[in-house]
Amino acid sequence: MNKTLRNAVIAGNWKMNKTPAETTALINEMKPLVAGADCDVVLCVPFVDLQAAIEAAKGSNIKIGAQNVHFEKSGAFTGEISADMLTALGVEYVIIGHSERRTYFGETDVTVNKRTLAALNAGLTAIVCVGEYLEQREQGITAELVAMQTKIALQGVSAEQLKKVIIAYEPVWAIGTGKTATADQANEVNAAIREAIADVYGKDVADTVTIQYGGSMNAANAEELLSKPDVDGGLIGGASLKAQDFSVIVKAASK
Ligand code: 13P
Repeated sequence: MNKTLRNAVIAGNWKMNKTPAETTALINEMKPLVAGADCDVVLCVPFVDLQAAIEAAKGSNIKIGAQNVHFEKSGAFTGEISADMLTALGVEYVIIGHSERRTYFGETDVTVNKRTLAALNAGLTAIVCVGEYLEQREQGITAELVAMQTKIALQGVSAEQLKKVIIAYEPVWAIGTGKTATADQANEVNAAIREAIADVYGKDVADTVTIQYGGSMNAANAEELLSKPDVDGGLIGGASLKAQDFSVIVKAASK
């Protein structure tokens, strides 16, 4: 299909793991392993590790992202972090709407949209997560659901701004469970997401959007998942905490 139109992006989501000192050590271990990769390499680390990560990644091909961003510019929002605070540090990416935020922290499609707009307006690249629960897959509504999640997340995003949006398809039942979607399942849903984007922006634009798969992607299964025409990269949890495993996934995306 049109895979050559898109950047392959492998992003690690460290979730709530690693101190600043551990961040420095892990990035130093990863740097030589991912050097020269023919794909974009991103690590999304906890807020308190961002500075250490940016420092450690300097001069390498690793870019740094956060795991959330608030939609207001500043003000009385205790515990929140604004997009300008992130860009001031040198952060370039941010994960938005991860299922863990939707499930445990009350994130909705509407707040995902607000955060996406705030991130894009500040010049960040937004990694917007969508995905179904097992019950929804069994109900046969996965494609409709991810299409709706995608369209709401992108409400008010211009075609120009869409260049800085990555969609991550993460089936909730595959996250941290060791249960990966098959490569065909991942490809089928990613294609449905691309169709939803085409409904709004047209096919030519949709063909340029990077759509990742995430959910127990690891060193052993990455190559097969990434070989699929609509799987343009990965959002990696557990395996991104191991330098060797993460670098194998990066290499699989570079082929
Ligand atoms: P795992 O790779 O640990 O399943 O996590 C996936 C994920 O949630 C990435 O955002």
